[in-house]
Amino acid sequence: MRTWHIQSALFWIATGFLAAGLFLAPIINGGRDPKYQKLGVDILFWALVVVVVGSFVGNYLAIAQIMPAHLNFWLGHQGYEFVDLGRVWQIGKFTGVAFWLVLMLRAILPVFKQEGDKNLLALFSASVVAIGLFYAAGFFYGERTHISVMEYWRWWIVHLWVEGFFEVFATAALAFIFHSMGLVSKRSATVASLASASLFLLGGVPGTFHHLYFSGTTTPVMAVGATFSALEVVPLIVLGHEAWEHYKLKERSPWMAKLKWPLMFFVAVAFWNMLGAGVLGFSINPPISLYYVQGLNTTATHAHAALFGVYGFLALGFTLLVLRYIRPTMQFDDKLMKTAFWWMNIGLALMLFTSLLPVGLIQFYASASKGLWYARSEALLQSDVLVALRWIRTIGDVVFIIGAFAVTWQVVKGVFGIDKDVSLPVTTGVTSPVLAGTEQGAIDNDSCCGGCTQANEGAK
Ligand code: HEM
Ligand SMILES: [Fe+2]
Repeated sequence: MRTWHIQSALFWIATGFLAAGLFLAPIINGGRDPKYQKLGVDILFWALVVVVVGSFVGNYLAIAQIMPAHLNFWLGHQGYEFVDLGRVWQIGKFTGVAFWLVLMLRAILPVFKQEGDKNLLALFSASVVAIGLFYAAGFFYGERTHISVMEYWRWWIVHLWVEGFFEVFATAALAFIFHSMGLVSKRSATVASLASASLFLLGGVPGTFHHLYFSGTTTPVMAVGATFSALEVVPLIVLGHEAWEHYKLKERSPWMAKLKWPLMFFVAVAFWNMLGAGVLGFSINPPISLYYVQGLNTTATHAHAALFGVYGFLALGFTLLVLRYIRPTMQFDDKLMKTAFWWMNIGLALMLFTSLLPVGLIQFYASASKGLWYARSEALLQSDVLVALRWIRTIGDVVFIIGAFAVTWQVVKGVFGIDKDVSLPVTTGVTSPVLAGTEQGAIDNDSCCGGCTQANEGAK
């Protein structure tokens, strides 16, 4: 279950990001997809299904010891958290990501030939290339490689992806979206993205070593890791500020208010960036704290707050934005979205602060007073208090799951048009010069949303 839990979180988030990229490509390209793009996306989707199903079945067969041991590494389970999938599936996943890269580049490269400022496009393209190619770092070790070398390459994927390139991709993608909606000028979108991307990479790349303090690392490298990963908090604050600015933009135009829910999710991203990645990440980050708490529930606290809080909500924000675009006449069900948004956020906070963090702090005390071995021992973990604290987690989990069902229902309703409001006059759609697929789409006049233009485009 644990393997599936982590793998499904990663697959889900990666799918959300890759889909957002594919959604954005024609927008960058002036409203058109290249020839056969749909076919490519369909192939990619079914390849994803094969890799997910195959790797999940392989995980199970390996853990249940049904699969012969010599096949484990290749088909079953690499035995390594976050890259648990068998090597064959990992190759499949890489092929898929590389194919995505091709789909993206064939859509965005022609834009380089056009006139005008292309710095933001260059940054976005670089992050797309990095996401596509850096997954290959996971192939630089084999079944029998020394564990310290394996650790090194594994963190290239796990850390460099999330704390480096995905951050740059997310920043540049949002900048594109807001710029194409005509909300921020290209220049300010470019400046903000370049500044945050440089800060991310400055902290994020050498910061990789905060995962390697105690895996045969030399002292100077430990110092580099500690110093630069502490700097990772800086861009998070910049981003928080940006998100708030974006949120305030909703008053700038009447149609912008219709994007309230995707924007709210982007604000949640900024909040969890600050709390989950910033505060909780920072507190376990110096070598002296990790010396006592590596691999305890304090890590799980940070990991849930940062991974779901930042990338989970970001993937949902992207999903809602895409939904808004492909169903221009749809109206978000406010009650449903309120439940989705608040129950997921409060559920996540309950999970963290009523269960994971208290367990982590008790473990920290045990580790500092007796030793790390004791903090992870059955004697401590099966004690009455810790068993009770783990059960308390169910409350937060249930609250969260209700929120998750609500957002799922909203998406299903939107996609399949199970919505009474769909036939209302078209005053509700997202519209903007580019998002609406028309140069004069920007509407000051609230009576037209560009939705009809989109519907016509779709019909063609
Ligand atoms: C959105 C950004 C981030 C995400 C998604 C994220 C995610 C994660 C995840 C999933 C883990 C658990 C890895 C494992 O189980 O071994 C982890 C560990 C860790 N993170 Fe983050 N993180 C983020 C930002 C940060 C920041 C900004 C810092 C420091 C300032 C940080 C410091 C750490 C450290 C030191 C560990 C290792 C803990 C250990 O080995 O026990 N993270 N992170
Ligand atoms: Fe990290």
